[in-house]
Amino acid sequence: MRYVVIGHPVAHSKSPAIHAAFAAECGLQDFSYERLLAPLDGFTDSVRQFVAAGGAGCNITVPFKEEAWRLADQRTPRAAAAGAVNTLMVQADGSLLGDNTDGAGLVSDLQRHLDLTGKRILLLGAGGAARGVVLPLAQARPSLIVIANRTADKARQLATELADAASAFGVALGGCGFDDVDAAFDVVINATSASLGGERVPIPDAVFHGETLAYDMMYGRDETPFLAHAREAGVRLRVDGLGMLVGQAAEAFSLWTGRKPSVEPVLAQLRAQL
Ligand code: ATR
Repeated sequence: MRYVVIGHPVAHSKSPAIHAAFAAECGLQDFSYERLLAPLDGFTDSVRQFVAAGGAGCNITVPFKEEAWRLADQRTPRAAAAGAVNTLMVQADGSLLGDNTDGAGLVSDLQRHLDLTGKRILLLGAGGAARGVVLPLAQARPSLIVIANRTADKARQLATELADAASAFGVALGGCGFDDVDAAFDVVINATSASLGGERVPIPDAVFHGETLAYDMMYGRDETPFLAHAREAGVRLRVDGLGMLVGQAAEAFSLWTGRKPSVEPVLAQLRAQL
């Protein structure tokens, strides 16, 4: 069975190493996973060619996740809500099922550190990365999710759009600007792209309390600006997004193969190689 990760750029992707480790653990001999660089204007053609050549599924990374959503013939409910697809699976009839495993990857990584039930969650950012994780977070049944964003209107809009779906899980959902956040939260998640530019998210220290879990969806060899901020504000429990990366891969691997690989050994291996 052939799988690929499609992106532009894609040379940096750790997905081949992660999936090779999963396949080895599960004893799958007939499993290959490679990188596929698609031209910026050639995502659909690249997928079609891969499928025509017998490909079984692919992961999609920057900047093609919205295009993959449009390309999918069917979508899982979590992909439909996310507005983005990071996993495609070729069905028996040749059609493409689109899934989004990013949110589940985040939630499983958070749950390794803290039970989310009844907790108050602050989600920073209202772009594609934030949108994709709101409902998976709600499914873990916190009491409250507040989306805060530099552009407050985008946060309010996203919260309004997803409020009914969140309330079906008994979760109150709100949206606001960074300046409007004045309470402390049990979990603070950075889903902005501020770290990419080496910048901190301008939120007050008061959002953290002693037992807050500070989680940055970014990761790197060095501490991210957001996690440095949390450390300086006295937060002990600080986690970067490497576990989310491995978690979303594990979910995709399960969808494709029906096997549940273990996350910890691969995460430790990747961490050592950062
Ligand atoms: P992604 O797919 O990574 O979510 P995106 O959809 O472009 O990318 O969204 C980027 C998010 O990071 C937005 O919430 C953006 O805030 P705005 O909506 O106000 O643009 C946020 N962001 C980017 N740079 C930021 C910065 N320096 N400080 C705070 N928020 C930032």
